[in-house]
Amino acid sequence: MSKVIVLKNGRIIDPLQKRDEIADLWVCDGLVVPVGSIDSAGADIYDLSGRWVVPGLIDMHVHLREPGEEYKETIETGTRAAAAGGFTAVACMPNTSPVNDNGALTRFILQTSAGCAARVYPVGAISQGSKGEKLAEFGEMKMAGAVALTDDGHPVVDSQLMRRAMEYAFSHDMLIMSHAEEIALSKGGCMNEGEISTRMGLGGIPVAAESIMVQREIALAELTGARVHIAHVSAEQSVALIRSAKARGINISAESAPHYFTLTEQAVLGYNTNAKMSPPLRGESDRQAVREALRDGTLDAIATDHAPHSILQKEVEFNFAANGIVGLETSLPLSLALVRENVLGAARLIELMSCGPARILGVPGGSLHVGAVADITVIDPERRFTFAVEESFSKGKNSPFDGWELQGKALMTIVAGRITHKDS
Ligand code: DOR
Ligand code: ZN
Repeated sequence: MSKVIVLKNGRIIDPLQKRDEIADLWVCDGLVVPVGSIDSAGADIYDLSGRWVVPGLIDMHVHLREPGEEYKETIETGTRAAAAGGFTAVACMPNTSPVNDNGALTRFILQTSAGCAARVYPVGAISQGSKGEKLAEFGEMKMAGAVALTDDGHPVVDSQLMRRAMEYAFSHDMLIMSHAEEIALSKGGCMNEGEISTRMGLGGIPVAAESIMVQREIALAELTGARVHIAHVSAEQSVALIRSAKARGINISAESAPHYFTLTEQAVLGYNTNAKMSPPLRGESDRQAVREALRDGTLDAIATDHAPHSILQKEVEFNFAANGIVGLETSLPLSLALVRENVLGAARLIELMSCGPARILGVPGGSLHVGAVADITVIDPERRFTFAVEESFSKGKNSPFDGWELQGKALMTIVAGRITHKDS
């Protein structure tokens, strides 16, 4: 029998069991076990009064950069940052170098992540090399352990290729994650199109560059019956399209990221390359629409799009800077702000950060029922701290939240009964 962990007096929030109560939770042999069911002599006992005990957080959209760009992040450093942020699992995007478009690379990622601080679920590429020309081998990647398919970083430009991808994914019961971007409209742009981009003299990316492609994915999901997930939703128009598609019963899910419900394009002022990402930060009505969509169920998940880059790609002119920001260690506090601001209840937040991603990806986790795998996050919702990106576990220091006063932190992250992060 492995070490027993006894979590006492925490607020257990388990939306799938409709549980929200102060209680104890016992863990043994990597599983949740009935309270008092085993000999607890020698157990690790934690008094968690005032803390939340929730199903391990799952980030379904992370860039780990290994293989190929280990100077930006490795599977080891990325999963340590994930654990520090309260995540017990992450899904990693295939835009590595080489691209994860085959079974061997999928297996490499899984083997390298064994024993790391968070579970890693590889997402395979839709097209070979994510070049948008020929489909990759979905079955081979699924056999190797890929949980979904995407060409994230780029859209699948060719609608016929995307249609075939969805048909092929449907027959393999795999999820398609769409990076929705009409590049004919976004080309030459590096921030949201509007008054600020004009004043700053920067090329703009209109909201329509996203929403047109969201509408295409909805139409193709309807045509093929495939399970389609829209990644990093940034705009009110996209939210409205997803809401009405869901109302019509189309098999679609969607995520947004903390930066889209926390920041607007104003963060770019001063040519701040740490506020540059794809899709770009939008206006205030978009930010409000994302918050409402998280509340009303139009969006199913909060994901970070954690995208570490080095200063070589970020300390350059704005239009040359790489897209993306790190997010694993700021996602939970920024999301908890939605609870404090009464946008979301606590249980809804845990749905968005744990149960939702588990359901969409079809992976374990998302519940604390007896017999469930013991992937658990302990949260102190009150804890205040100043986020210092230099001290981050991630190799990427490209955060627009550096120096922010944040509230709410993961105190402990437990993966299969093993404590992978403990706050000092
Ligand atoms: O901002 C982004 N960065 N968006 C993407 O879609 C890709 C990502 C990256 O890989 O850096
Ligand atoms: Zn993307």
